[in-house]
Amino acid sequence: MTEHNHEQQTFAPPQDFVDQANAGSELYEQAEAEGTEFWARQARELLTWSKDFTTTLDWSNPPFAKWFEDGTLNAAYNAVDRHVEAGNGDRIALLFEGEPGDSRSFTYADLKDEVSKAANGFASLGIGKGDRVAVYMPMIPEAVITMLACARLGAIHSVVFGGFSAEAVRSRVEDGEAKLVVTADGSYRRGKPTTLKPAVDAALEKGGPTVDHVLVVRRNGEEVAMTEGRDVWWHDVVDTASAEHAPAEVGAEDPLFILYTSGTTGKPKGVLHTTGGYLTQGAFSMKYTFDLKPESDVYWCTADVGWVTGHSYITYGPLVMGATQVIYEGTPDSPHRGRFWEIVQKYGVTIMYTSPTAIRTMMKWGEEIPAEYDLTSLRLLGTVGEAINPEAWTWFHRVIGGGDCPIVDTWWQTETGAHMITQLPGVTVAKPGSAQRALAGVKVDVVDEMGESLENGQQGFLVVREPWPSMMRTIWGDDERFVQTYWSRFESMYFAGDGARYDDDGDIWILGRVDDVMNVSGHRLSTSEIESALVSHHTVAEAAVVGAADETTGQAVVAFVILTDEAAQEGHDKAELGEKLRAHVGQEISPIAKPKRVLIVPELPKTRSGKIMRRLLKDVAEDRPVGDVTTLADQTVMQQIVDSLGE
Ligand code: WTA
Repeated sequence: MTEHNHEQQTFAPPQDFVDQANAGSELYEQAEAEGTEFWARQARELLTWSKDFTTTLDWSNPPFAKWFEDGTLNAAYNAVDRHVEAGNGDRIALLFEGEPGDSRSFTYADLKDEVSKAANGFASLGIGKGDRVAVYMPMIPEAVITMLACARLGAIHSVVFGGFSAEAVRSRVEDGEAKLVVTADGSYRRGKPTTLKPAVDAALEKGGPTVDHVLVVRRNGEEVAMTEGRDVWWHDVVDTASAEHAPAEVGAEDPLFILYTSGTTGKPKGVLHTTGGYLTQGAFSMKYTFDLKPESDVYWCTADVGWVTGHSYITYGPLVMGATQVIYEGTPDSPHRGRFWEIVQKYGVTIMYTSPTAIRTMMKWGEEIPAEYDLTSLRLLGTVGEAINPEAWTWFHRVIGGGDCPIVDTWWQTETGAHMITQLPGVTVAKPGSAQRALAGVKVDVVDEMGESLENGQQGFLVVREPWPSMMRTIWGDDERFVQTYWSRFESMYFAGDGARYDDDGDIWILGRVDDVMNVSGHRLSTSEIESALVSHHTVAEAAVVGAADETTGQAVVAFVILTDEAAQEGHDKAELGEKLRAHVGQEISPIAKPKRVLIVPELPKTRSGKIMRRLLKDVAEDRPVGDVTTLADQTVMQQIVDSLGE
């Protein structure tokens, strides 16, 4: 089978999958017929409530939704204790694989003890209901345990991706007014120990007056400074604590976590999720999108808990459903390029959820590598983070899935909390490259400029027309920005920020962001945040950043900078300075935000009103003839830029 001409190719689910699938096509019909009651039913079937709710949805003050409002429950109880109480304490919850090859496993009974100890430990550090806890951790079991311990106490976690800089930690700790920071000495990356704690120290030196304590897990034994009175070790505080802890009873609408994500302006947004609705849709999608059979599946999501995928599809969704899951600390190429497939073989992974970028990278490495491993345990594959190009889809299907695993291409966002558009395995005839259809119970649409629904064959903006259980509730501390960003572009609709198209069958194809957000390896980056980081360097007067198409990472960051007069006179070597600026962005934001290329140019293309025309810079970055320049204030600018790059 060739991987060309796949545009029209479709893939029906194998009959043996259909026969055992959790979902049938009636799920869509039920959702349609039942309206919000469909979600009330899911909430009661999939979660254990301390007190049942009497109202399903309160939408009297849009866009501030309240789901299951007078119900009470506890997320950690749902993710852990209830499985033990149901007699499944011996089932494995976590299979941890460290990058150096060390491994640990936790049954649900073990996890209950660990989470209880952590909750008692955090409480001894003064943490209670509603307090914010910043989490800056590698992908180790303690990261999941920490999140669940917060949930157990009714405290609100705010996870900062371990690849982010000290500056990112500081701004998030300050915005959320965290009382506690949980971190580790470090981790391992490509065979070498890395550190995390020094970034927390640097962050707290510059800010974070609300932080009383820093709790440190010993992971790699790197030497770290401990500030007397503030810093404490996990093994002193948590390991010695009691394993008895009564979970706090929290309201369905009490906050579960804050997770920061890039927006169109420089300042990251603290996306707030609450408890009942978030857990309902997470559990629902585990059951139906991932066809999870908790007794027999081994599920593996390759994301990091620093991203929303790690929140919904590592910490909460799978555990609430009682799954057995693998978590992996490291990179796919350490110590060798077969590491992912070695893990699938070692643990007998049945459901694997990963990103198109990872798949494209593995494709480049060659199919001889996965061919060395036994991947026959796999029965379902999933992708998230960006659209999967049909080449990568068919490769994943053939080489990894052996030609008979359904693939679910799941579209969703930090803001949506759980899957929104996806195939249902066993139901949908898959069409590579398209996420296809809204999850049952979710109302998405593609609309034109005026908010009118489009017809098949047309493209426009992706919106959600009705509230859904796992929707974000607000931006932490900034209701106004929440309304402005998501609910003002179109009346009474959630604006996702993505472009989309209906094909002739009415299936949805996601076309990428329509705002100044880039998508690099499935990670959201804001152009203006990177521009600010560049301008904060003393040699840079002005900067413009674009996302240029990239074969492996989807988009790559390309930066155009104008030097200050002083720096221009100093006669820097362009390549050397470009390297310095890349490193500077890495330090200010994160290595993932480093521009692939920094182009030093004499001018930037601007309209008469001073707006930078990124479209033209994108042409340059993608080596295309430059488009229409007639709206530029100075029409010679693009020529100057092109000439300067030829020098
Ligand atoms: C993009 C990640 C196409 C999209 C869960 C969205 C996708 C942004 C897909 C959210 C997909 C995510 N197909 N595009 N299957 N999944 N995206 O908040 O642009 O990190 O708006 O959430 O990723 O990124 P976020």
